[in-house]
Amino acid sequence: MQIQTLAAHEKGAELKPFTLEVDSPEGYDCILKVLACGICHSDIHVIDNDWGNSRYPVVPGHEVVGEVVELGNQVKHLKAGDRVGVGWQGSACLQCRDCLRGDENLCDKNEGLIISGYGGFANYLRVDSRFAFPIPAGIKTEAAGPLLCGGVTVYSALRYAGMTSGQEIGVIGVGGLGHMAVQFASKLGNRVTVFTTSDDKAEFASKLGAHDAIVVPAGSSPPQLDRKFNILISTVPAALDWSAYIEYLDSDGTLTVVGVPEEPLSIPLWSLLTKRRRVMSSLIGGRAIITEMLDVAARFGIEPIIETFPLEQVNEAMDKVRSNKVRYRAVLTVS
Ligand SMILES: NC(=O)c1ccc[n+]([C@@H]2O[C@H](COP(=O)([O-])OP(=O)(O)OC[C@H]3O[C@@H](n4cnc5c(N)ncnc54)[C@H](OP(=O)(O)O)[C@@H]3O)[C@@H](O)[C@H]2O)c1
Ligand SMILES: [Zn+2]
Ligand SMILES: [Zn+2]
Repeated sequence: MQIQTLAAHEKGAELKPFTLEVDSPEGYDCILKVLACGICHSDIHVIDNDWGNSRYPVVPGHEVVGEVVELGNQVKHLKAGDRVGVGWQGSACLQCRDCLRGDENLCDKNEGLIISGYGGFANYLRVDSRFAFPIPAGIKTEAAGPLLCGGVTVYSALRYAGMTSGQEIGVIGVGGLGHMAVQFASKLGNRVTVFTTSDDKAEFASKLGAHDAIVVPAGSSPPQLDRKFNILISTVPAALDWSAYIEYLDSDGTLTVVGVPEEPLSIPLWSLLTKRRRVMSSLIGGRAIITEMLDVAARFGIEPIIETFPLEQVNEAMDKVRSNKVRYRAVLTVS
């Protein structure tokens, strides 16, 4: 069949129509009719080849919600008509130690949907059904996609940083990922402070569930604070004054960095050593934690706040993401 996509043909390019030919699905593959697809900042990193592994033409889109329309003969857990979501990961070996303990995202053979193949800025998508997740009934179609990449990234990073309840948690950057981190952390019973460059986001933060908001202009260091945090999560795609944020951590506190700045992190050892603090990072989440996150989101009413654009207006939407004007996640809708 023919699939109509929108693709970047070179580094940083505008997206243009691009037609793909795909065969009928075999084995574990299935074909989805795309209903909606979120725009994650990682789509921009890949269009711009920031990570040096982009293959053009790049068809972005890895927060996909679609309806199953065709299945390979090995697919048993899905049927035609099911509503599923697909995130960053397109496949894994499913046999290595990481895969066997449910950390498919850590597999050496893990493949990014939009790195090794084509993503969801399209009318149809062919995917490995083992990385397509049924969307719980309570979650709206247009809002579900961002949970599959942004949502699981922050949920998993917070959980592996030790998030339980009753903790002080700081969220740095209130974009697509950050505004979901605020919701997960606060709805699960933590006290949340946001650090944002945007005045309007500081004002809105309490509606997301944050208890406090601090404006830190881009390029500035955060102010002195008496409060100590158990966990800080950075969702910012730029370098920050890491030392200043580490000083906010309580003893045994953790800074988890999921945003991807260009520069290496420079951290004085003493700021960690004297208080047994940790710095960690984390890539999306495996299949078990994606399923858990979707359950938690449905049970606690956690949904991204979205701005929708018809697929044809993709370049307008991308410009808004690039200029940090989206509140809080752009989602393309496909008719
Ligand atoms: N680790 C993973 O598995 C994973 C998964 C998905 C995405 N990511 C990465 O996470 C990052 C964020 O993605 P996203 O989709 O949430 O992006 P986004 O929606 O564009 O949000 C990023 C936010 O960071 C803040 N920010 C941007 N530039 C800044 C600067 N120069 N200084 C300070 N703050 C700045 C802004 O928040 P305020 O307006 O509040 O300041 C902005 O809304 C990207 O690097 C993306 O590639 C990682
Ligand atoms: Zn993403
Ligand atoms: Zn593996």
